[in-house]
Amino acid sequence: MNPIFKTIKERSTVHFYLDKPVPEELVNAALEAAIRAPNHKLTNPWRFIRIGPKTRDKITDIAVALKAKKLGGLSEAAEAKVRKKVGSSPVMVVVVHELNDDPLRCKEDYASCACAIQNASLLLWSEGIGSKWSTGGYSRTDALYELLNIDRNSQEIIGSIFMGYAEKEHVHSTRRPLADVLSTTE
Ligand SMILES: Cc1cc2nc3c(=O)[nH]c(=O)nc-3n(C[C@H](O)[C@H](O)[C@H](O)COP(=O)(O)O)c2cc1C
Repeated sequence: MNPIFKTIKERSTVHFYLDKPVPEELVNAALEAAIRAPNHKLTNPWRFIRIGPKTRDKITDIAVALKAKKLGGLSEAAEAKVRKKVGSSPVMVVVVHELNDDPLRCKEDYASCACAIQNASLLLWSEGIGSKWSTGGYSRTDALYELLNIDRNSQEIIGSIFMGYAEKEHVHSTRRPLADVLSTTE
C-alpha cells in the first residue's frame, strides 16, 4: 500500500500514553510538518505553545476545577481520571489560531490550522507515536487564556495536541463508507 495512505488509514486517536519521552527531533518534525499545511494567502495563522511541566500542572488543575464545577464536586477517582486525561501525555502543544478580521479568511485560516494538526498527527503516527487533538472544556476557559497570555480578541485556542507512545492497542474508529458520502455529477 502507498505509505502515506497506509499512515492515514492506520492512524487513530490515542487517549492514554506510556510514561516514555518522545524524541525531541520528532516533536520538532511534527511541528515542521504542521506548518507545511496548505494555507490560502499564506497567512501563517497558527501559533504553537509547547507546554512545560509547571504550566501543564496548572492546565490540569484548570481542567479538574472545571469538571468539579460542572458536577458540583469530584470524587478522588474522577479527579484522577481528569488528571490522567489532561495531564499525562509526555508532550502537550497548545494550538492557537490568529484571528483574521475578514470572516472568510478567518474560516480558511481555521481550516489551515486543522490541516496543520493532522499533518503533525500523521508525521507522528508514521514514526510509531500517537497523538490526540483535544478540545476539552478547559481549552475555552478564561483561566487558560490568562495562563498562556492569549488575547481572545485576536487569537483563539483551537485545542491541544497530546503526543506520546500509546499505552495500549486502540480500537480503530469506523467511518461511513465512501459510497455513502460520494456523489458524482454528469
Ligand atoms: C476538532 C477535534 C476535536 C477533538 N477533541 C477531542 C477531545 O476533546 N477529546 C477526545 O477524547 N477526542 C477528541 N478528538 C478526537 C476525536 O474524538 C477522534 O478523532 C474521533 O473519535 C475519531 O477517532 P480517530 O481519530 O481514532 O479516527 C477531537 C478530534 C477533532 C478533529
